[in-house]
Amino acid sequence: MNPHKLLPTFSSITTSDKWYTYYKANAEFQLDIPWQRGAEIREAERNVIADSLAAWQLGETSDGTHLLAAAKNYARRIKDSKYVDVIQLFIKEEQRHGGDLGRFLDLAQIPRLQRNWGDTFY
Ligand SMILES: [Fe+2]
Repeated sequence: MNPHKLLPTFSSITTSDKWYTYYKANAEFQLDIPWQRGAEIREAERNVIADSLAAWQLGETSDGTHLLAAAKNYARRIKDSKYVDVIQLFIKEEQRHGGDLGRFLDLAQIPRLQRNWGDTFY
């Protein structure tokens, strides 16, 4: 059975407690990625997606400093301290995505970016 079928749908997640449970479960139930198969991408496909994928990967590996600061302010305003815990799990999940995407970039021989203009927005 696909463990992701046990996760709730986004529309049913209406509180910080539910989001917290969602992110915890999602972190635990990861599908195996067949990295040994390589990137499985043609040169023409690689050339089309390389720049945007590299920028996306960089964004996914952000430390989330600005987001976390904004989340703390928001949590204080709405008196929901669990919200900060949720955002920390969200950032961790995005960083996992960034790690996976980075691994894909390496397999596709697409250089990783160290900095991108989109990374300067907050
Ligand atoms: Fe992501």
